[in-house]
Amino acid sequence: MRDRKRPLFAANWKMYMGPHEVEAFISKYTTLFAPRDDATIVIFPPSISLVPFALAVEGRSDLEFGIQDVHTEVQGAHTGAISAAMVSGTQATWGLAGHSERRSEFGDGDAMVGTKLGRLFDAGIQPILCVGETIEEREAGRLFNVLERQIRGALEPLSEDVRRELVYAYEPVWAIGTGHTATPSDASEAHAIVREVVAAIVDEENAKAVTILYGGSVKPENIKELITAAGVDGVLVGGASLDPASWAVICDCGR
Ligand code: 13P
Repeated sequence: MRDRKRPLFAANWKMYMGPHEVEAFISKYTTLFAPRDDATIVIFPPSISLVPFALAVEGRSDLEFGIQDVHTEVQGAHTGAISAAMVSGTQATWGLAGHSERRSEFGDGDAMVGTKLGRLFDAGIQPILCVGETIEEREAGRLFNVLERQIRGALEPLSEDVRRELVYAYEPVWAIGTGHTATPSDASEAHAIVREVVAAIVDEENAKAVTILYGGSVKPENIKELITAAGVDGVLVGGASLDPASWAVICDCGR
């Protein structure tokens, strides 16, 4: 069972770090970052690098890893796609669904995201639901509505069991890869909305216990203020996780 109280440091490598680059990253990172038992570390390599990643972290059971996206089906004629059931064979234990880049580039909608979360859960993989608003939505005062729609839409096809196990990542689209980080109070406000929506759909107890990550231009310079913000249980880091030294500094925060 996942320990919901430990901070979670997650790295989303997106379409970086091919199979030939993983070994060098891990060997440098593991010399800089010693295991800590008071935090959870998870890396999401691109799917083609999952197996090399698993080999590279043998002997470092503290380094968990996962898949950035899966198909909605278990198997079938879906050229280029990967299912959650296949991923479980790589020892990956985490999976993202609904990242804003999937939503904007590939058209992943809320119901599809929900199906993916269910497939991950069925394959024994811990699902993370990514949500977040665009700058236009924020400026139009629609933060609450957007987060509520994304969460309700994704949870709709899921059973109570799956709903209770979800982890959330709040990633404002305007903060991803832009250097414009949300302030700690922006993050706290959005995380409180996620909890409010979860309380309405699941229950109060689950809303209090649920893990919510913040993502969007997290780096060594701002990790401390973000991870200590009210309601922030961890971070999901893109660009700054591609350098073993800066990722090690982020993962050491609060040690
Ligand atoms: P950046 O840290 O590069 O802004 O990316 C955040 C993100 O999208 C993580 O999933």
